[in-house]
Order: sequence, then C-alpha cells, then structure tokens
Amino acid sequence: MNKVSTSILTLEKEDAVKTFYDLEVAHTDMFHIDIMDGKFVEKDTTELMKDYSLTLSHITNLGLDVHLMVENVEEFIDEYVDLEPEYISFHIEATKTKERTLENIQTIKDNGIKAAIAISPDTSIEEIKEYIPYVHMILVMTVIPGKGGQKLIPETLEKVANLKKYITENNYDIDIEVDGGINGETAEKAKEAGANVLVAGSFILNATSFKEAVETLKK
Ligand code: DX5
Ligand code: ZN
Repeated sequence: MNKVSTSILTLEKEDAVKTFYDLEVAHTDMFHIDIMDGKFVEKDTTELMKDYSLTLSHITNLGLDVHLMVENVEEFIDEYVDLEPEYISFHIEATKTKERTLENIQTIKDNGIKAAIAISPDTSIEEIKEYIPYVHMILVMTVIPGKGGQKLIPETLEKVANLKKYITENNYDIDIEVDGGINGETAEKAKEAGANVLVAGSFILNATSFKEAVETLKK
C-alpha cells in the first residue's frame, strides 16, 4: 500500500491551519516537514517548521514525517523526538562517521520513532547499504535538496530500482520514500521503480482538489 506524505514547505502561512485540516480530509497519510538549517542547504526553515509541527501535533493524529536537511543532525533529533513524529530522516551526507550514524539511528528508535536515512541525488546507495538493517526507511531525494517545485531527476529512479532490488534480495522489510518533483506522472514511475512512500508538495498544494491529487498519487 502506497502512502502519501504531503510536504508543507510551500504552504501559504496565513492559510496554514485550514490547509492542515483540508489535507487531512483529503486523506494524506502524513505531513512531511522539511527542516532546513541554512547550512546543509541555503534556506532556513527551522522557525517556521517548528511552528507548523507544534500546531500539527495539537490538531491532528496523523503522523509527522520529519526530514532533516541540517548539518547538526544530533541537535535536531533532540529537538524533534519530543513531538513524537512517525519518522525522522537525516542525511547521510551530514553525518561524519559510522559511529555517529548508528548512534543517531539508535536515538531515534529509542524514542519509539521510525528511523530513516536520506540520500541526495549525488550519493550512491553503496554508501548506505551497511545501515539498511537498522532503519525503517530510506528517503531517496529525487531532486537536489533545498527547495520545492523542482523537476524530478530521472536517474534517481534508477537508484530507487537498484535499492528495491537490493532490499528484496536481502529480505529487508523497509520503506522507500521518494521526495521531490513528484506528480501524477512521476509518481507512477517511482512506484514502478519500487517506492512506496511518496512525498509531494507543489503537486498537492497547487491542485484545485487536494483529494483528487492525493488519490492520483495513491492509485
Ligand atoms: C526539497 C524537499 C521536498 C520538497 C517537495 O528539498 O525535501 O520535500 O519540498 O516539494 P515538491 O513536491 O514541490 O518537489
Ligand atoms: Zn523533504
């Protein structure tokens, strides 16, 4: 069963609460929270996303899907575990050592949260294979991290297909999430390649009907 995680990065701030309700009515499965620190990527969304996450934790029972695009992974894991999100993903490019990576995965899991590793388009799956037995999900970035509304990079779907092959061959039971440039057409290709969690921001938020957009991605 495919899941849809709506990225609220490009939301109109004034309409935030109404949009959260409307997305829930439209049956998004999760809210995808893009945390950018102004260092790992240019933009800084830390304040805004904290604000949205707190609001969401009060008004919805749906899971939060926290995507850390930050250099100081440990600091943000500590900050977000209190909100009890469903997933916390951090970038392998940001963690300096294998020990740190494993510690971060453990901290997330010790708090009852599903742990995920995110990989940018230029990073190969070879670099994350050793962590696959310990995580619940791999987030494959299908655009360069940093902003919403970009076009999916087709080669990233080959990476999804290779990853899917590897996890099936080794009998791992983990989710593959794709993030960036997902629309009706690219969602189809991403699912064919093996993704089962689809992040979409602009495709859903710019649609005339959230419900139809979410349905299109799920079917
Ligand atoms: C990009 C973010 C994505 C992005 C998705 O750095 O991680 O979550 O906002 O937005 P769309 O669906 O518009 O590409
Ligand atoms: Zn994201």
